[in-house]
Amino acid sequence: MRNLIDIKDLSVEEIDNLIKVANDIIANKEKYSHKCDGKKLATLFFEPSTRTRLSFESAMLELGGSVLGFSESSSSSVSKGESVSDTIRVVGCYSDIIAMRHPKEGAPLVACQKSVVPIINAGDGGHNHPTQTLTDLLTISREKGRLNDLTIGLCGDLKFGRTVHSLITAMSRYKGIKFVLISPDELKLPDYVIENVLKKNNIEYCETKKIEEYLPELDVLYMTRVQKERFFNEDDYVRLKDYYILNKAKLETAKKDLSILHPLPRVNEINTDVDDDPRAKYFEQALNGKYIRMALILMMLGIK
Ligand code: CP
Repeated sequence: MRNLIDIKDLSVEEIDNLIKVANDIIANKEKYSHKCDGKKLATLFFEPSTRTRLSFESAMLELGGSVLGFSESSSSSVSKGESVSDTIRVVGCYSDIIAMRHPKEGAPLVACQKSVVPIINAGDGGHNHPTQTLTDLLTISREKGRLNDLTIGLCGDLKFGRTVHSLITAMSRYKGIKFVLISPDELKLPDYVIENVLKKNNIEYCETKKIEEYLPELDVLYMTRVQKERFFNEDDYVRLKDYYILNKAKLETAKKDLSILHPLPRVNEINTDVDDDPRAKYFEQALNGKYIRMALILMMLGIK
């Protein structure tokens, strides 16, 4: 039985195949509309979500399956003291596959050890978000036509931004990737990602506080929200939350074919005047999240 806890649980070949299937789904939606007839997806979200939960549910519905679950732990028996492991074991009696989000790093890994059905990590604390990474890879691949030979700027909260950690891990397996890490000192990429991913794989990278410094070189600019919910101190959040605000004027020096991505939700880090710029791809990215999750559900249920 397959679980997806970390993006490294998938080989590069499997990721490339998921992208291929997602592109086929986009081109031939009807062909897939009964692939999951009779199958049930449970979405167990112990932390808020719009895109991940609803795109998973929409993905399963478009495959002909059905969905059940909860969107906050207060409406489950976890609020009475039931453990996550027991919850997962029981939900496996009612479903064929589970997508789970939890504020604690490692919770989906613990859960999958007791589960009788496949578990998909839909985000665990500040750690990982592998299905957002699949979404990002599908978007980059569709926009740039490749996943190699790219200069990727990652901007904002690189410390707590789990999507950044998973994306760096995934892209480091492709050739010719250079990262520009743009953050204030307080929100720099954690040492464990620098040591275990970037340095270990000899990936070229540089760090800067100024978004303007490397902007003209970027093929992809991946903006992120400052993760308010992971801060211990409100004053620190208030001081850092508007450190970067991308607007149309700042994009003047950027490449004409830059792709601007954001896992969303955004707060202030991308001004709405960027939304109409043809380089803004974050809403397409959100839509791609549904298609790649359709491909992933098929793969994990072993449906051709
Ligand atoms: N990108 C993302 O994970 O969004 P949600 O928190 O709305 O699911």
